Amino acid sequence: MITVKTPSGETRIHIGENALDAIKTDSLDVCLIADSRVPQAFIERVAKVVRPVHTLALAGGESIKTLEVYGDIAKEMLGNGLSKASLIVAVGGGTLIDMAGFVASTYHRGIPFIAVPTTLLAMVDASVGGKTALNVDHHKNVIGAFHSPSAVHIVPSVLDSLPERELRSGYAEIIKMALLKDRDLFDALQGPHDLTDVIRRSVEIKRDIVERDFRDQGIRHQLNYGHTIGHALEAMHQGKYTHGECVAFGMRKMAKGKPFEKALLDTLAAHQLLIDIPYDKDALIAFIRADKKRRQDIISLAIVDHVGEARVETVPFDTIKNYL
Ligand code: GLY
Repeated sequence: MITVKTPSGETRIHIGENALDAIKTDSLDVCLIADSRVPQAFIERVAKVVRPVHTLALAGGESIKTLEVYGDIAKEMLGNGLSKASLIVAVGGGTLIDMAGFVASTYHRGIPFIAVPTTLLAMVDASVGGKTALNVDHHKNVIGAFHSPSAVHIVPSVLDSLPERELRSGYAEIIKMALLKDRDLFDALQGPHDLTDVIRRSVEIKRDIVERDFRDQGIRHQLNYGHTIGHALEAMHQGKYTHGECVAFGMRKMAKGKPFEKALLDTLAAHQLLIDIPYDKDALIAFIRADKKRRQDIISLAIVDHVGEARVETVPFDTIKNYL
């Protein structure tokens, strides 16, 4: 088990085929919020353990992270008698976990939640670190809260049913994590490797960063490597490219001229993430201007000089143009 200690509480992260056996609901009334795209048999496995008072099915995806869906969930929970003594168990990908976590952070001013991530991206990123959020129009994660799940239960075999493109999207975040902090992991990703080990190592890297800067005021910005450009591309293309594809492209831009540039390109190619995403420079800059990491004409950028050596640089906004 990996433990993440944050000001919002401790998260116990269980990884392995028997991870669901470790779920503890502490006798609270469970609202199960499950992504309807996840195989029913897996949702039933979770339901058997948590015995929900109410189950809410949602088709995950960026389009659910709205105030309207948020309101609908709160109304449905209220209508089904879920009180302050309730627990949300979220089964799904990053968007569903972001949404369920935000509901948990605000329902009756905050109830606990447990995450059962079913995509690689959610396992290594969204479930770790307590960021929950909704979008406003095409602006990502504008409304949110820091609310750590009390536990995360990761069953790697659920990924067997994940579309190949979604799996690759998760690899972009893993490659990022390796680039930030772990040369051995970066090297391992270029050849055959054990996915469970890679998930565990990525979670540990994220844990180490989050424990030092839970509220995202300094070094946690390192996790934003490739994301300033990536998020803008994602918003601009409105879902045509996955989060991982956009982040991979953003990382390539940030890695231009760095000693590891070729190794990064090779690693991205090995995971079919070497995709050229078209963009109009001025339009992209307009999207980047909406980035929440920007303060007036200053932007905070995650920079990697050598594999495993990351830093955050606060620079004039126009510096981003040098990378495009
Ligand atoms: N996904 C980036 C972070 O958790 O800070």
